[in-house]
Amino acid sequence: MNKFIDHQIIARKVHFDFSQTPRHWVPNDVLATHVLNSMHVLLPAVEHWFCRLANKTLPYVNDKNLKADIRGFIAQEAAHANAHKGAEIYFQTHGIDPTPFKHFLEWMFKDGFMGDTPFGIYGPFKRYSKQWLAFRMGIIAGLEHYFCFFGTWVLDAEGLEHADPAMLDIVRWHGAEEVEHRTVGYDAYRALAGDHLKGYLGRQLSMSFAFIAMVGFWLGASVYLCKLDNTPEAKRISRKNPLALIWAFQQTAKQKKSLPDLVMILTALKGWSKFNYHPEHDGDVKKALAYIANSPAAQQVAEAYAQALAAKMNR
Ligand SMILES: [Fe+2]
Ligand SMILES: [Fe+2]
Repeated sequence: MNKFIDHQIIARKVHFDFSQTPRHWVPNDVLATHVLNSMHVLLPAVEHWFCRLANKTLPYVNDKNLKADIRGFIAQEAAHANAHKGAEIYFQTHGIDPTPFKHFLEWMFKDGFMGDTPFGIYGPFKRYSKQWLAFRMGIIAGLEHYFCFFGTWVLDAEGLEHADPAMLDIVRWHGAEEVEHRTVGYDAYRALAGDHLKGYLGRQLSMSFAFIAMVGFWLGASVYLCKLDNTPEAKRISRKNPLALIWAFQQTAKQKKSLPDLVMILTALKGWSKFNYHPEHDGDVKKALAYIANSPAAQQVAEAYAQALAAKMNR
């Protein structure tokens, strides 16, 4: 732990049961359902990439508290990726198969554009491996800035109150842990790039890339899932042009409150652009930890563990 996180970050055991989840699990809201479903498609590859890069950052970190936080971060992100993989049963039940896109993402983050030696190009990426790592850790810090923003939003999202309980729990549990470890990616980036002008400019460059990639992949994955969903409303959404889709997103955010407001998403960049920005002031950690303690998925595992222990004692 360090001065920004007053407890050790750990991966928690959770179990989500999506076997009863309806196709459109945000009731009467196909767009919000698939915009949120895109997490299950995008995040396993993205968060495994976070784990690999955070692990490569460890040798550059001298502070033993930050090292412990990074190890906790890796454990949590791996648990998130695995939890989202569990949504495969939901996709299978409803005849939606995003496997080709998931394979593409795995390739892109391992061997493609975001890999250590993109497309097998060794020379510059080996010679400047620390700078390449710092640029990509800056992207991770930028994405973590947004994951904390989305986590803060989802814990209070009124428009999701009547959503399927298992899906609502995974998005809130994940969001809460993003709020909990909000400083780690940023501090790992600082360990590589420093706090001075170079580090500041580097994180602005990384965020420019992270923001465009996040918006592009998020909307792209949402449209892709709508294309795979054979219901008329999903097909109608999948035929929208990008501007009409952004408009529909914003209308849903304003009227149904089942998606975050685009103006708020844009203004979240303001804090990041400040020279002395640090994510320690983002999100409400107490609220996040309270959700984690009461999450149905965590309680289910705790109850199963208590029952197994009681059965063992009675033997
Ligand atoms: Fe995560
Ligand atoms: Fe995270």
